[in-house]
Amino acid sequence: MFGCLLEGNSWAKNAGALFVTVAKIHYDLNGKPNKHAWHDVGLATGNLLLQATDLGLHVHLMGGFDVSKAHEALGIPDGYEAVSMGAIGYVGDPDSLPENLKARELAKRSRKPLEEMAFKGQWPQNDSGNQV
Ligand SMILES: Cc1cc2nc3c(=O)[nH]c(=O)nc-3n(C[C@H](O)[C@H](O)[C@H](O)COP(=O)(O)O)c2cc1C
Repeated sequence: MFGCLLEGNSWAKNAGALFVTVAKIHYDLNGKPNKHAWHDVGLATGNLLLQATDLGLHVHLMGGFDVSKAHEALGIPDGYEAVSMGAIGYVGDPDSLPENLKARELAKRSRKPLEEMAFKGQWPQNDSGNQV
């Protein structure tokens, strides 16, 4: 699984476990595309994160992986799509990281203000905010 990660995620080699989240992209019921599949995976992953945190573990999610490689390595069948990868374990010592990753790990965390991602009524018509 480690071989599926992109180079910037080399830090994950010491994680207790790596996992891949997978979406089932059609409904069982009628075989139609399930456009909410990724939402469901995100929600399930969020819950995994909360449970792990409650158990004193740390989860770091990653979009930086080779999706086709993951499909091949794990034998993920048609109708399923790898969404993200995660590393789960105990937080390590930043001093064990190469300089660039150490700087990223120790950088000040910032969060977008709520008004950039939530609004009342209509979607704001000006260009500010709501940008990823
Ligand atoms: C779509 C997406 C993809 C991400 N991909 C990676 C990744 O490949 N490698 C990585 O180290 N962090 C990645 N991150 C960032 C981490 O998951 C995490 O959000 C970030 O380290 C912030 O952590 P913090 O909550 O401790 O501040 C990604 C975040 C998002 C939203």
